[in-house]
Amino acid sequence: MKKIVTIFMAVALVLCFAACGTGADKPSSETASDSSEQTTGQDHENQHPERAEENREEQQADPSEEQDVVLEETVHDGEDTENASKALVVYFSATGNTKAVAETIARLQEADIYEIVPEQPYTEEDLDYNDGSTRATAEQNDPEARPVISGSIEDMDRYDVIYVGYPIWWGDMPRILYTFFDTYDLTGKTIVPFCTSGGSGLSGTPGTIGGLEEGAEVLEGLHISDSSVDSAEDTVSEWLNRIGQVK
Ligand SMILES: Cc1cc2nc3c(=O)[nH]c(=O)nc-3n(C[C@H](O)[C@H](O)[C@H](O)COP(=O)(O)O)c2cc1C
Repeated sequence: MKKIVTIFMAVALVLCFAACGTGADKPSSETASDSSEQTTGQDHENQHPERAEENREEQQADPSEEQDVVLEETVHDGEDTENASKALVVYFSATGNTKAVAETIARLQEADIYEIVPEQPYTEEDLDYNDGSTRATAEQNDPEARPVISGSIEDMDRYDVIYVGYPIWWGDMPRILYTFFDTYDLTGKTIVPFCTSGGSGLSGTPGTIGGLEEGAEVLEGLHISDSSVDSAEDTVSEWLNRIGQVK
């Protein structure tokens, strides 16, 4: 009888040790394996795509973690867009003709657009070229005139290609374009000139721009007659093709 009791106690003791041992080891081993997955999870994902898939499923089980992933992707998308190099269309337009062409180029090139706005706007009287004493004519007769631009371009570094548009005034760019080129150093950039006018063509303005921005490459310019600015899209497209600037 004593023997039976001893055997029974021995069996009970072994069973008790087995049960206690399992309970104590499990959480610590889970914790260790969890933390190693968290710290090295990305390496594992790179080496084992199927593990990456499992991880994604695990993350989706927790809605708060799923949101983190989505937010992170959104931030990355934003950074990529911001850093991407874009074209910029800069223009001055007193009566809207050059503006129409500028908008066509910006649309076709998915470019940003910036209007050069004079601090002192030009009135109809200022623009009357039949009167030699009016403001626009006086400015064109003064090589030193630099009408002040209202505002500025915040981040010119973002742009590699800059389309610059203007009307022809007395066979040249309006003086406010000289203010623009004095203000911005466009070294290393590509400048693409375009203009509108009554009958004069580009009037040598691409060469003038090249002299003002010696570190820039100036491409072939485009001239559009002021009577055809609203039907210029085909001409603009052909020109963009010709100069290799098709989007
Ligand atoms: C002061 C002034 C001078 C101008 N000089 C010329 C000129 O020399 N040759 C020409 O063909 N057109 C000339 N024009 C006409 C403009 O170039 C033309 O109407 C242009 O499309 C206007 O552009 P905008 O509407 O963007 O200001 C002149 C216009 C003004 C107001």
